[in-house]
Amino acid sequence: MQKTAIALFPDAESEQIEFLDSLLSPPPKGNAVIWTSGERTDELKLQPREGLPSWLPGEIDLLEPEEKAGKSRAYRDGLLYSLDYSSVLTGSALLALSDQIDSSPTVLDACAAPGGKSILCSTLLKPGLLLSNEVEGKRLGMLRHNLTRCRIPNAYTQRMPVHELAEQARHAFDLCLVDAPCSGQSLLAKGQDVQGCFHPSIVKGNARRQRKILSSCSETVRSGGFLFYSTCTFSQRENEGAIEKFVADHPDFTPLKVPHLAEYRSTLSEFPSYRIYPHRSNGAGGFVCLLQRSSRESEIGSIPDALLAYPVAPPSSIDSPE
Ligand SMILES: C[S@@+](CC[C@H](N)C(=O)[O-])C[C@H]1O[C@@H](n2cnc3c(N)ncnc32)[C@H](O)[C@@H]1O
Repeated sequence: MQKTAIALFPDAESEQIEFLDSLLSPPPKGNAVIWTSGERTDELKLQPREGLPSWLPGEIDLLEPEEKAGKSRAYRDGLLYSLDYSSVLTGSALLALSDQIDSSPTVLDACAAPGGKSILCSTLLKPGLLLSNEVEGKRLGMLRHNLTRCRIPNAYTQRMPVHELAEQARHAFDLCLVDAPCSGQSLLAKGQDVQGCFHPSIVKGNARRQRKILSSCSETVRSGGFLFYSTCTFSQRENEGAIEKFVADHPDFTPLKVPHLAEYRSTLSEFPSYRIYPHRSNGAGGFVCLLQRSSRESEIGSIPDALLAYPVAPPSSIDSPE
């Protein structure tokens, strides 16, 4: 962990210490909430909006530290989804697409459970079709529950390895989200015990898996479409390194600037990518890079009906926890 702190902040010993402190003795921080139905209640203690960035959409609030959304009536009634504020910051990169992407875009969320990025994307971009895929069977139920509870429109779920998605839906989506499985180092800043998350072999294994996932997922992106890559870890190898290798192998993808995240610009890549640190923000930490595929007219595919076999229906009853 110390080696990572030195690598991330080589000339700033005090910042290394602040970073390590925020992982080893994390202060309480409030989660974000996304109001998903247009309705909201006043039962939760929210941080004043004046303290939040001006670009943050009105459907998103930040809870006061210690406040929990999970037991609220609003949660029970499916009015909100609660997630770490870093996920909102990294996911907000999608706002940079609002005037570049088709209205009602088709979106694949390739690594979707428990559903945070799918729900955020639904709020920010209003997809005409959202296919939320989760390869782990035991996480699929949680994903379907959250999309159903929050009444996410135009949503479908799938459980498919990403290389199969690439075969079946080649060049079919306007946007593919890859919120990749990673070493999860930022989870320490939420007080979670993440064994071995700084161990080089864990990092290396994750980087290898991320390269494969990125490569498959990129094939689902139509000509001129977009690829979103995020993690909740600090490792350069899993973040800037993963994108560097991906772009070297896929020169038809170009990282894009996200102007409203300029203050989070990573200093560890030449290309635009963004890092959230726990000692500098309200969130636990994360990384995001948004890429665009170059335009070639022949490379626009369609989504086969078989992938849309599991629509998310409105909830009949809400009975299990988040
Ligand atoms: C960081 S989590 C996704 C969190 C989710 N996007 C959200 O915002 O709630 C990564 C997900 O990738 C899934 N995953 C693990 N191995 C994978 C693989 N080889 N291909 C695709 N997804 C994988 C995990 O099961 C996990 O649900």
